[in-house]
Amino acid sequence: MENLKNQNAIITGGGRGLGKATAIAFAKEGINVAITGRNENNLKETVAELQALGVKATYAVFDIANYEEVKAGIAKIVAEFKTVDILVNNAGVAQFGTLLEMDPKTWTDIINTNLLGSYYVTHEVLPHIIANGQGDIFNVSSTAGLSGNAGTSAYSASKFGLIGLSESILREVRKHNIRVCTLTPSTIASDMSKELNLTDGDPEKVLQPEDFAELLVGTLKLPRRALLKSAAIWSTNP
Ligand SMILES: NC(=O)c1ccc[n+]([C@@H]2O[C@H](COP(=O)([O-])OP(=O)(O)OC[C@H]3O[C@@H](n4cnc5c(N)ncnc54)[C@H](OP(=O)(O)O)[C@@H]3O)[C@@H](O)[C@H]2O)c1
Repeated sequence: MENLKNQNAIITGGGRGLGKATAIAFAKEGINVAITGRNENNLKETVAELQALGVKATYAVFDIANYEEVKAGIAKIVAEFKTVDILVNNAGVAQFGTLLEMDPKTWTDIINTNLLGSYYVTHEVLPHIIANGQGDIFNVSSTAGLSGNAGTSAYSASKFGLIGLSESILREVRKHNIRVCTLTPSTIASDMSKELNLTDGDPEKVLQPEDFAELLVGTLKLPRRALLKSAAIWSTNP
């Protein structure tokens, strides 16, 4: 089993939801964690929780849909951590509506955040993981990235695209001893899905953010010769 202690991770969208649960689970394994997002209060509070678990923790505030902000934010984190072992491309937004109902700006913003944002962050972080000699990248897609539904065109397009990005870079970076894992979870009772009422009225019955985080920790602990290419985590009995 791989020892994760003292590895350095960057988690986008780490101030709440799945990203925060993952940050806490990583810190419990002794992984130092840098989190990103736009809401500085959430990031500060989470960093304090991570530091209380005895690891190094820091944050950078930026909009992942803005490449110039991404470049500056990742540079700040790398200046503090020096090396990067793990990247979790988690930050994302969800809004639903038919193609004609949704205005073009909203549709485009979803693509810019979920797809281009993950590309921008990967573009800035990947050279550091390659320089490290080994590492892990998780890309958080969705069941909506595997099949389209009425009302999900923007979200599905962004998450289908992310799967294409993720599977392609896996083939590019395997030879650098970098594992890339594409995740396609179904509904998890995160801040986002509670706000959007996606949990069928009973958030306790569906997957919890901590369950998602446990999957990532278990995947990281696989011997380095083994990689999980993709994983669809579902609720047992929603
Ligand atoms: N929850 C589910 O049921 C579910 C299922 C499948 C896939 N997913 C995916 O899992 C990921 C996490 O979702 P979640 O449920 O944890 O949602 P959440 O609670 O809303 O958290 C989303 C995170 O992304 C960050 N974020 C959003 N837009 C951003 C932007 N433009 N720039 C920087 N950060 C941004 C937010 O930070 P700030 O607010 O600080 O910007 C927040 O920390 C998303 O990619 C989502 O599509 C979720």
